[in-house]
Amino acid sequence: MRHLYVHLPFCAHRCGYCDFVTVVGRQSQHAAYVDGLLRELELERSVLPDELETVFLGGGTPTFTAVADLARLLEALPPAEEVTVEANPETVTPELARALRAAGVTRVSLGAQSFRPELLRVLERVAGPDDVRRAVHHLRDACFDNISLDLLYGIPGQSASDLEADLDDALALEPEHLSCYELEAKPGTRFTHAWGAELAQQADAMEDYFERVVARLTTSGYRWYETANFCRADGSGRDLRARHNLAYWLGRDYLGLGIGAVSTIENRRWRNTPRLGRYLEALTGGRVPEREVEPLAPAVRARERVLLGLRLDEPLPLRGLRAALDPTGLERVRRLGLAIDGGDTLTLTERGRFLGGAVTAELLS
Ligand SMILES: C[S@@+](CC[C@H](N)C(=O)[O-])C[C@H]1O[C@@H](n2cnc3c(N)ncnc32)[C@H](O)[C@@H]1O
Ligand code: SF4
Repeated sequence: MRHLYVHLPFCAHRCGYCDFVTVVGRQSQHAAYVDGLLRELELERSVLPDELETVFLGGGTPTFTAVADLARLLEALPPAEEVTVEANPETVTPELARALRAAGVTRVSLGAQSFRPELLRVLERVAGPDDVRRAVHHLRDACFDNISLDLLYGIPGQSASDLEADLDDALALEPEHLSCYELEAKPGTRFTHAWGAELAQQADAMEDYFERVVARLTTSGYRWYETANFCRADGSGRDLRARHNLAYWLGRDYLGLGIGAVSTIENRRWRNTPRLGRYLEALTGGRVPEREVEPLAPAVRARERVLLGLRLDEPLPLRGLRAALDPTGLERVRRLGLAIDGGDTLTLTERGRFLGGAVTAELLS
């Protein structure tokens, strides 16, 4: 088990489309929350080796947490080869960038979402396009050589040329990595209430938007290594895939700390309570937080391996996974030219990757 996720839920403001576990404001509780995380880490220490492959601080807005608390947390975590922090552009100052670097962070994932001010307003984002550019420059000045940008497509009012312009603006910053997600209407959010019907109407156009994203980024020297993820393949020999997320896609075990965090270890998955008060109360008393525990049968993990593994551009090794596949479905997608059955491996073709979930649904028994 060599992968650790740490959830930092605090945000300055709640964006209407977001359904992540977040807590607005509460600056007075940031230090107590970090204390809670460190106690939870101690309680779980035995499952972690002394050195990790990856650590991912996600949110929420990890960089909204007071810098001193963030640094204290980073220093207490086991060392890892890749340490990623998610950051909102408006929070990235030269001081923050230097503090992250000094605390051993190797990679920053910036939530740009779009460079069009009117689309950022639809999303209720605090950062404008210049905040994104400034953040990248501050990170470069602090010697970060692994920066990822998140972009969204399918924002209401976003034309195909707006999307092309967003991709141009993102590429101009020369990020090592890009994540491009189709905007989803999450049930119960303000955004879905206001825009859900419009998103449903434009669903058909999204296939074309997805193809535009892939075409623009792959012709610009990026590797389309996962359905929504791209990394620079510039011949330098560095593998710039997001190693932490790769661990999820490869079905590895991971430990998650913090409210709402999920852990998967062998035949067990658990999710911590999303309630801040309950989480802090338990850990202050030296107890693990309330958790929803789900036993994971080997067949369930095998299905997940197929579902997640086929998101990657590499052949999926089929050893131990054959039983998860429906032979009739497999034959159908193979005949339709959506997948290549190599005997020991299965790979989706480009067309298969564009159709994604629909193909894997057909393949699973
Ligand atoms: C944990 S979230 C937010 C990180 C950071 N606080 C921010 O706002 O940039 C990570 C990414 O998920 C994506 N995301 C969030 N809500 C989404 C939604 N409703 N549909 C698709 N992608 C979403 C965004 O691109 C976001 O940058
Ligand atoms: S999108 Fe990011 S900043 Fe906005 S509420 Fe969600 S986690 Fe917080």
